[in-house]
Amino acid sequence: MAMFYGPNRDTVIGPIEELVDEQRPPIYRNYRYAEFQEEFFRQQGTRRMNQCNVEIQKKSLHNQLTCQIALFSFFHLIVFMETASIIPSKFILPEDKRPHLSQVSTLASIPIIDLIDYSENDDENKDDVPSSLLVEKISQACEEYGFFQIINHGIPEELCNTMMAVTYEFFELPPEERNQFYTTDHTKQVKLFNYYLNVEGQDDKVSMWSQCFSHPWHPRENMTHLLPENPPQYREVFAEYAKEIGALMSKLLCLISKGLGLEKDYLEKRLGKNPSLLVQSNHYPPCPEPELTLGLAIHTDLMTALTVLKQSDGVTGLQVIKDGKWMAVDPIPNAFVINLGDQMQVLSNGRYKSVHHRAVTNKAERRLSMAMFYGPNKDSVIGPIEELLDEQHPPFYRKYHFSEFVQEFHSQEGTRRMVKEVFELKNK
Ligand code: OGA
Ligand code: NI
Repeated sequence: MAMFYGPNRDTVIGPIEELVDEQRPPIYRNYRYAEFQEEFFRQQGTRRMNQCNVEIQKKSLHNQLTCQIALFSFFHLIVFMETASIIPSKFILPEDKRPHLSQVSTLASIPIIDLIDYSENDDENKDDVPSSLLVEKISQACEEYGFFQIINHGIPEELCNTMMAVTYEFFELPPEERNQFYTTDHTKQVKLFNYYLNVEGQDDKVSMWSQCFSHPWHPRENMTHLLPENPPQYREVFAEYAKEIGALMSKLLCLISKGLGLEKDYLEKRLGKNPSLLVQSNHYPPCPEPELTLGLAIHTDLMTALTVLKQSDGVTGLQVIKDGKWMAVDPIPNAFVINLGDQMQVLSNGRYKSVHHRAVTNKAERRLSMAMFYGPNKDSVIGPIEELLDEQHPPFYRKYHFSEFVQEFHSQEGTRRMVKEVFELKNK
């Protein structure tokens, strides 16, 4: 167990003046320690030469060792993302994994669906019966895109804005305070972490240009004791937001059930009484080199059936694959992005899609997104819904307890996990 003692980021390091004279001229120039750290991250590999550009002779072995610890420290990663004027090598993706932003389509967009049409106007119990036109629109979006945006969803705009502002405040807490939530232990309920990509032929993992804060949510249960005490309004605002999102999720699950030709409460029942409810807030600081990095690597939402995502106004970042081409999902004020997860793809026997997406970075502005996930109960049996199967429609997946899927997920290390593929049948 090596205990390292390194300088403060702002400390000026250089040969101590009292030790320098004509016989012993300085062999290093002065530098701010932060500058040394930046140089360290800029250099790939393990035999780093921290020259600060004007090194007169190689640094001592001790200096290299001081920096090795930085490589493993989440604290250093976040400080770098928030202050670096050049991009440390730790974040630089190999050529074939880069976003190639000029090739992203900005003309096409995912469907925008107005929930003001939720109920049939001429029905007596109008709140209970979703309009067939709306059911059809959503069903089509789920089949073709796996993604859509909703407007006029009924959640007060002010609450959404406050929730986003308070979450921003969380990411503005001093790095030392945020660092207390950092963990790589996936069994921890409340965690701050940094995604990374394992690159073939490269020892070092490539870090994503983001920080993610995750914890459970519930529309009714009190989560207060789990949540951060700072910022002071977080607990109260989050409880209110979770209640509203819970009601919206129920509405969406009802619409999607109807779209599959099922009873309106089918999916909510099938996913179970105690669904896995998690929020993941993603914070993307401005990045000096958006072409070399990603905020979140390409993925599908594996553990969820449904995701309701709020993204910051005016800053784009989310991109979705459609017909083999990347498409930007531009934020619409007071809208939510809805996407289906792998569990929904399996339940619908592949009719509804869990689509690959990613988040890119930008030079000018930070970005925040808040993804609320709705996944099955651990004991729920997930598999193609029996009512959707017949001779023409054989099952593409075998049934599994959701806990089995979770176990398989954690047994696969790295970022491009193939989990639902393990449960595929030959019919596909
Ligand atoms: C996610 C996600 C995209 C975004 O959290 O799973 O895909 O826009 N986020 O940040
Ligand atoms: Ni996602």
